[in-house]
Amino acid sequence: MLHKNLAISDDNHLTIAGFDTVELAKKYGTPLYVLDTDTVYENCVMYKTLIEKYFGEGSMPLIASKALSCKEIYRIAAKAGIGTDMVSGGEIYTAFSAGFPMERAYFHGNNKTDKDIAFALDCGVGCFVLDNNEEVEALEAEAAKRNVKVRVMLRVSPGIDPHTFKAVVTGSVDSKFGVAIETGQALETSKKILGCKHLVFEGFHCHIGSQIFDYEPFATAAETMLAFIAEVKKETGYTVSTLNLGGGFGVRYVESDPVFDYEKALSDIADAMDKCYAKYGLTKLKILFEPGRSMVAAAGLTLYTVGSFKTITGYKSYVSVDGGMPDNPRYALYQSKYTCLVANKAGDEKTETVTVAGRCCESGDLIQEEAPLQPCERGDTLAVLVTGAYNYSMASNYNRLPRPAMVGVGKDGDRIIIKRESYEDLVRNDI
Ligand SMILES: Cc1ncc(COP(=O)(O)O)c(C=O)c1O
Repeated sequence: MLHKNLAISDDNHLTIAGFDTVELAKKYGTPLYVLDTDTVYENCVMYKTLIEKYFGEGSMPLIASKALSCKEIYRIAAKAGIGTDMVSGGEIYTAFSAGFPMERAYFHGNNKTDKDIAFALDCGVGCFVLDNNEEVEALEAEAAKRNVKVRVMLRVSPGIDPHTFKAVVTGSVDSKFGVAIETGQALETSKKILGCKHLVFEGFHCHIGSQIFDYEPFATAAETMLAFIAEVKKETGYTVSTLNLGGGFGVRYVESDPVFDYEKALSDIADAMDKCYAKYGLTKLKILFEPGRSMVAAAGLTLYTVGSFKTITGYKSYVSVDGGMPDNPRYALYQSKYTCLVANKAGDEKTETVTVAGRCCESGDLIQEEAPLQPCERGDTLAVLVTGAYNYSMASNYNRLPRPAMVGVGKDGDRIIIKRESYEDLVRNDI
């Protein structure tokens, strides 16, 4: 199977972490997100162990909240002893209310409002990853008002094109995120931070994109960042202590995707950096990474109930399910590839080629086009694999569809970790 937590049982049902998905669909209803929480924990520990091995003590992964933010994720991250990066007051509140140690929380975003800044300080967020001059000024003003010192990093765009889908490239010079090294603006903003009495300048951040399978762009980004850190040292006399290299490691969604070797990626980056430390006469920095997708994607899948069918003779066949773009907008947004299968006929041959459609009043509401699938009928359980990242976190209530529940599976058994929304939930804020 695509990932090691997936298998087919003797009665031909798809299992995740040993749990029968057809039984889960029956017990909890559909659409249903299933999250293998042991795999999430193992991924946190895997990254922590490898990052410490290659970059030294104090170096650490920060799970990227944007991939999946819910209280259970922060409980798992806290238990694994790793940090988190977050991009909104809502993510901060979720982590805070789950009891996450907020000194290990890093606050991102290209437009933190004054309210966000105050809220993050109230919640004890450990470090702000500043994105621009306005944020530098706003945070300095708030910190001065409170008479506190705040740890900060600066997000820069290193000008790297990682050959991935354009919408998820974030480190190019013309990106909306961060200040560009190439234009000299990153150095200018660094000087501005150094001039702020209440900001403790810890280091720099970059994130080059997402779903990257090439190893080389990560190493190139690290080299570019160290060259820039050396330049800042030369220009200002100040050496930062920390470098945050973001996330972006690829995940297998379909059989044709390569297997990404996380240890190779990290050791290649470490090798490239060791050469740069020697070249620029820098001492080793504390290194942070922000894996999101590779922490949670393969730990998740979504279960739907098959409903209507339609074959347009000479054109295509549709299989419609009881969810769609509100619970997984990624095909509609990016034409993301997914593996679909009929969970109660999981070992059968996929002899059909179908478009899996959702039930929204929207032609673009598709989960997958041209998808190989087992023959199926109304009432079958359809599984979409590897939906742990950027599915629940991107979900909406379009067409006033309630968001599905999420059930956690693992050593603790199967249990609801996010309740299914009800119709009352949908009108809760309506006046
Ligand atoms: C700043 C930042 N960090 C981390 C991530 C996580 O990336 P991924 O899920 O590809 O690992 C993202 C995603 O775009 C990001 O923008």
